[in-house]
Amino acid sequence: MKKGLIINGPNLNMLGSREPEIYGHETLADIEKYIQANIDGSAVKMEWFQSNIEGEIVEKIHQSFLKNDTYDFLIINPGAYSHTSVAIHDALKMVKKQKIEVHLSNTHAREIFRKTRIIAESCNGIVEGFGKKSYLIAVLSQV
Ligand code: DQA
Repeated sequence: MKKGLIINGPNLNMLGSREPEIYGHETLADIEKYIQANIDGSAVKMEWFQSNIEGEIVEKIHQSFLKNDTYDFLIINPGAYSHTSVAIHDALKMVKKQKIEVHLSNTHAREIFRKTRIIAESCNGIVEGFGKKSYLIAVLSQV
């Protein structure tokens, strides 16, 4: 049985009401249920974490992968921190497990500032542009 952690960054707790024309009408809890329903629960167990605070995300990475050896892989949707956070990038550099960055939207088809990628360089792969399926593809890549 593999165990994975999914970290969601700022504003993703507002999914459902946040810019539905881009992110759809489903909440983060709906996406979690969708993933649970579409993975083999006997092969992989996923845990979810969301924070709007950069330092809390760094701390979660330390606690889950560096100070403990709790998970086999990490999936992260860093939200806007994807484009700005050297701190999360540095924390991920220390993690020796597989790391996948996910995005609901295709950030390359949006504003130019979203093309700046700080965290992607520390990840093994990126899945973006497929809505909630981005998360599913990321999980399935690890089982
Ligand atoms: C996002 C894309 C980011 O550019 C944005 O800041 C988000 C959501 C996505 O999932 O499409 O908060 O990570």
